[in-house]
Amino acid sequence: MKLLFVADVAGKPGRRALREGLPGLIQEHAPDLVIANGENAAGGLGITAETYQEIVRAGVGVVTLGNHTWDKRGTEELLDQEPFLLRPANYPPGAPGRGWLVVSVTGRRLLVVNLIGRALMGISPDCPFRTMDAILGEQAGQVDAVFVDFHAEATSEKQAMAYYLDGRVAAVVGTHTHVQTADLGISAQGTASITDVGMTGPTNSVIGVDPKAALERFLTQRPVRFESAAGPWQLDAVVISIEEGKATSADVIHLVEASDR
Ligand code: FE2
Repeated sequence: MKLLFVADVAGKPGRRALREGLPGLIQEHAPDLVIANGENAAGGLGITAETYQEIVRAGVGVVTLGNHTWDKRGTEELLDQEPFLLRPANYPPGAPGRGWLVVSVTGRRLLVVNLIGRALMGISPDCPFRTMDAILGEQAGQVDAVFVDFHAEATSEKQAMAYYLDGRVAAVVGTHTHVQTADLGISAQGTASITDVGMTGPTNSVIGVDPKAALERFLTQRPVRFESAAGPWQLDAVVISIEEGKATSADVIHLVEASDR
C-alpha cells in the first residue's frame, strides 16, 4: 500500500494549498490513502467541522491532530461524529474521541495512531511510548501495518520514538515544528521515519504565522495576536510504500505554489 501523509495544514493558506496542490499529488503518486495533520487548520489553531470537511473534500481520508486539538469550540462533538478524525492517543483516559483507528487499505488493515510528545509542549499527557506499547499489544495479530503521527516539539523525543518503534511499525512521522527535516529514512527493520514532515501553509511566514506578528512577539515579549501569513503556499508531505508491514520506499515532497499565477 502507498500512503501520502500531508504535514500540518496551517490556516486558510494551508487549506488553499490542499485544494490546489493535493489533486496533482494524488494523480502523480496514486496513494491508497491520504492522511493529514489538521490541528492548525482553523485560523492556525484547532479544527472546526467546516475546516475538517474542507480537508476531507480535498482528498484526505484520515485527519490527525495535536496540541491544538481542543482550541475550537465543538471539537469534542466533531470527534464523536467523525470516525476518521483522530486526536493524540495519549491524552488521559476520559478525553473525547479516539487516538487510533484501523482502516482498510487495499484489503489490508492499517492501524493509524496519533501521539503527542511531552517534551517542551506545555502539557503533560500520558507517556507516548507506553501508550504505543498498549495499543500495539491490544492490536497484535489483528493489523497488517502501522502508521504513527507523533506530534511533538523536541527532535530528540521524535528520534527516540523512531528507535522505540523500530521494526514494530511501518512509519513514524513527526509533526508540529512545521519545518521539513532532511532525515527521512528507512531502518534495517523496515520502519520509515522523519523528525518533521514540515508544513502545508504560507511559505513566507514564521511557521505559518505572519512574520510581522511573530517578530513583534519576540521583540516585545507581549502576547501579540497571530494571523496567518499571506502569499504563496507550500505543501509538505511524505509518500511511503508499505509491504508486509514494512516500509519499502519513502520520499519527501515539498511542493510550492507555481509562481506564474
Ligand atoms: Fe502543534
